[in-house]
Amino acid sequence: DWTPDTFIETTINELRTKLQNDHVILALSGGVDSSVAAILLHQAIGKNLHCIFVDNGLLRKNEFEQVLDSYKHMGLNIKGIDARERFYGQLAGIADPERKRKIIGGAFIEVFDEAAHEVQKELPEGIEVKWLGQGTIYPDVIESISVKGPSATIKSHHNVGGLPDFMKLKVVEPLNTLFKDEVRRVGAALGIDPLILGRHPFPGPGLGIRILGDVTAEKVSILQQADDIYIRNLRESGWYNKVWQAGAIFLPVQSVGVMGDERTYEYVIALRAVGSLDGMTADWIHLPYELLAKISNEIINHVKGINRVVYDISSKPPATIEWE
Ligand code: XMP
Repeated sequence: DWTPDTFIETTINELRTKLQNDHVILALSGGVDSSVAAILLHQAIGKNLHCIFVDNGLLRKNEFEQVLDSYKHMGLNIKGIDARERFYGQLAGIADPERKRKIIGGAFIEVFDEAAHEVQKELPEGIEVKWLGQGTIYPDVIESISVKGPSATIKSHHNVGGLPDFMKLKVVEPLNTLFKDEVRRVGAALGIDPLILGRHPFPGPGLGIRILGDVTAEKVSILQQADDIYIRNLRESGWYNKVWQAGAIFLPVQSVGVMGDERTYEYVIALRAVGSLDGMTADWIHLPYELLAKISNEIINHVKGINRVVYDISSKPPATIEWE
């Protein structure tokens, strides 16, 4: 019978046999999968696991600092890299969603590759990083096999096969037989922070695809503030764990409002919350009006640049979860 404890024991033994004294590099995203993969690898090979966590400037408010901190507390050998300016620079003036995804993916590979070279440089002569660790789970494997279907062309959101050929590393994927709920159970058995394990899915391109149109540091800051108010209220009201995924979206549309006796002409924030099993289909969540009212007031009163909040009542299909 499958249990988290037997999985952990077997996997750690297998990893030790496979990796011996080899060094492994792994990119952490702050999400469940890469975190659980990292802790398993860490328990198997200790300091021979080198983790990289990139601030692409498109994470949630304070997320980089908080997540980096909790990874350090878990004892991981981790480098945090501030690459915000590089991402903003490459994204400047780009409005097309698929181009934005490609740019964000490409910039990530550049940053990760540089970081991998740094790690290599710090190792003693003759010792090489030979493996790339990944948090790929079973549904990702299936999805990457079946990407010939129409879903592949709708959005290029595949974290599998992203290995640049110049990196020449072998891939180790300790979770590639598990489903998400099993990954969470393994994570809990490993003692990983419930705040990390219970996180909503968050897309690789992050807030970059929740800012419609071109991305600027200023828009990111506005969206981070609004999103933070939204997510905090979901947590405080107990709705966070009843929702599969939630987030705020920045709409680059200005509308007229009034603040005191001043006319305003500012941007719109859309709130999205969906229930789903696997992201393939999703229903919008009927959040209580009182909660929506509180969130809307807080956002409009505290986030400069926003004078209107709307709630997305579209299901998937025909809408998608993300707006881009
Ligand atoms: P959609 O918008 O296609 O999203 O209904 C389904 C699920 O996939 C996530 N998503 C992404 N994840 N890179 C990712 O890693 C992406 O480019 C991407 N696009 C969408 C989305 O957040 C939802 O959970």
